[in-house]
Amino acid sequence: MKRNDPCWCGSGKKYKKCHLDFDARLAELDLDINLSQIRPTHDLIYNAKDIEGIKKAAVINGGALDLIAKLIKPGLDTLSLDTAVHNYIVEHGAHPSCLGFEGFPNSICTSINHVVCHGIPSADEILQAGDIVNVDITTDLDGYYADASRMYIVGGKTTPEAQRLVDVTHEIMEEGIRAARPWHCVGDIGAACGAMARANGYSVVTILGGHGVGKAFHTAPFVNHDCAANTGMILVPGMVLTVEPMINAGGRGVYLARNGWAVHTSDHKKSAHYELTVVVRRGHAEQLSTFDYIESTDK
Ligand code: MF3
Ligand code: CO
Ligand code: CO
Repeated sequence: MKRNDPCWCGSGKKYKKCHLDFDARLAELDLDINLSQIRPTHDLIYNAKDIEGIKKAAVINGGALDLIAKLIKPGLDTLSLDTAVHNYIVEHGAHPSCLGFEGFPNSICTSINHVVCHGIPSADEILQAGDIVNVDITTDLDGYYADASRMYIVGGKTTPEAQRLVDVTHEIMEEGIRAARPWHCVGDIGAACGAMARANGYSVVTILGGHGVGKAFHTAPFVNHDCAANTGMILVPGMVLTVEPMINAGGRGVYLARNGWAVHTSDHKKSAHYELTVVVRRGHAEQLSTFDYIESTDK
């Protein structure tokens, strides 16, 4: 690409005024192949217009998660939540990305207590007071995807142990987002999450994890939530990925339920999961679902 060509990122600016210095910095990085350090490809880097598109999807997605908070109560079945979210997303001109994704039958995932993730909503699944429930929702709008999940406590009160698991899991996600710093490695996210989980006596699910997101539901890099720092793909401004630690009260072991989707803890102890879509910026990582800023540095 020549200096006066339009930049590969699609900004419409000249390359020399846009990503020329960026490409030079990326090329100069002295990567350690023993730590599997690799450069991101250009297709993983979004321009300002793309980020606006992902944000619009994230606003609707966050609204759907807010709607769950209003509706969820003891005695309700999880299929009712699915129907409400499906209608909400469609009424906002968007599409629930989970529906039909690799054959998934519904618009949301509902994962209760010992279910880690990918639970299938059902009219037979009745919420009980004290259940801790993860609802995971992805919305796509005009070709842009946003993916987020939250924990809900049915009836507002659970055991102190379950409450601590939920609260600490949220803190672990925030710690992971703070570690998503430009020009550092994706493995720093897992190092931060893993250390915090262990310090609290919890284990981290690693056979599933976060992912790049943007113009597709799932892209590189895979985001491991318990791994060594300084490993994996280099994070750079314009990358968008999810931070979504799945934290178990007991062991890290999980198995796939007979329905082929839901992931359960092997010891049937409880699990919690929070997820946000995060854009890596020059000076900080930004949570697209809430627009809160979390300071980080590119030093
Ligand atoms: N939202 C999940 C994630 O965080 C993926 C769900 S896929 C589905 O990546 F098919 F189960 F919906
Ligand atoms: Co998700
Ligand atoms: Co995700």
